[in-house]
Amino acid sequence: MNTIYLDNAATSPLDEHVAGTMEPFLKSDYGNASSIHHMGRKSSVAVETWREKIAKIIGARSSEIIFTSGGTESNNSAIFGLLENRTGKQIVTARTEHNAVLYPAEHARKMGYEIIFADIDETGKVTPEALRKVISKDTALVSLMHVNNETGVINPVPELASICKEHDVPMHCDAVQAVGKIPVNVDELGVDLLSMSAHKFHGPKGAGALYVRGGAPWSAWMHGGSQERGRRGGTLNVPGVAGMGKALEVAADGMSDHISHIRDLHQRLYSGLSEKFGDLVRFNGDPENGIPHILSVTVTDSGYKPLDGEMLLLNLDIEGICCSNGSACTSGTIKPSHVMLALGMSEELAKSTLRFSLGKYNTPEEMDRTVEALFEIVTRHSDSVPSL
Ligand SMILES: Cc1ncc(COP(=O)(O)O)c(C=O)c1O
Repeated sequence: MNTIYLDNAATSPLDEHVAGTMEPFLKSDYGNASSIHHMGRKSSVAVETWREKIAKIIGARSSEIIFTSGGTESNNSAIFGLLENRTGKQIVTARTEHNAVLYPAEHARKMGYEIIFADIDETGKVTPEALRKVISKDTALVSLMHVNNETGVINPVPELASICKEHDVPMHCDAVQAVGKIPVNVDELGVDLLSMSAHKFHGPKGAGALYVRGGAPWSAWMHGGSQERGRRGGTLNVPGVAGMGKALEVAADGMSDHISHIRDLHQRLYSGLSEKFGDLVRFNGDPENGIPHILSVTVTDSGYKPLDGEMLLLNLDIEGICCSNGSACTSGTIKPSHVMLALGMSEELAKSTLRFSLGKYNTPEEMDRTVEALFEIVTRHSDSVPSL
């Protein structure tokens, strides 16, 4: 049985060119990038070369890129590195953010900060009006994501960032589900800090970066050695940096073909599910305007009763189909997704929600097979079969 991997928002397979780019730094060119000798210099030259390329792709200067271990570290570093330089006592964010923003914010709350959640609209977006309502002179920072990892909804980041600018408040953007999937340019977005993670765009796990705009009120969060010009202590993950750089380069070069391929897949899955299930499926977020890489579907049985999402996941898995029912970090537990709850869904319906996340290696046939398999599973588990 062939695997159909539809969990690319959790993590994605390495691009075929990436392993080759990483290999020398895992085998022969293993020098520590901080070492003075020629082995170290070889590594540091590679790191700086990739830093420059990554910076160029997102419209930044290379001095504004700090390498990290991934999205979670970048978000923590952004939030705590800003708080240290700000006098305001409020953090503005949204309930639909990833836990890699919500939990650092929760930790800051224990340190005496107040968390203010901007309202979301019915699709899960934070509108400029919602941000205007909560931003104030006591706002230490705003942290709002680019693309939601569960629904694919895209926040209007340029408008949100310009409100922050008006109020002289730094804005951090978790762009982990955007970078490498859609064009991301830090000047067009207007954000001050931006997080990215290589394994979401066919790069290696454990490699990421934080963009920090020159002059932003931010200082190091991870203390240790003087790597990254004192802004992130710790031996540089040279294979990871090279792998992330190569993955982003490949993604940027093939961006328009990639988007049109994913859009076709998304359309096929969306219409396949709609045709087969009718009103027994409900699509969450804003499938027409969101990122095509993610399709969030709430499935009910023929009596419109929620189905157990875990049961659906396990049965799909038996058919070789991998997807998820929330963010990867909460799967494995039976807690309903906080994003679905924030969208106003009941716990039961939230638990009967599946996330299909598409990647460049998926095919149209896989979309058809997934629709068929899900239909067969739901039919088997429906109390009153006739309408299905
Ligand atoms: C939106 C978002 N932010 C942050 C993260 C965490 O990234 P990482 O796994 O690189 O720590 C994820 C991972 O799922 C994510 O989807």
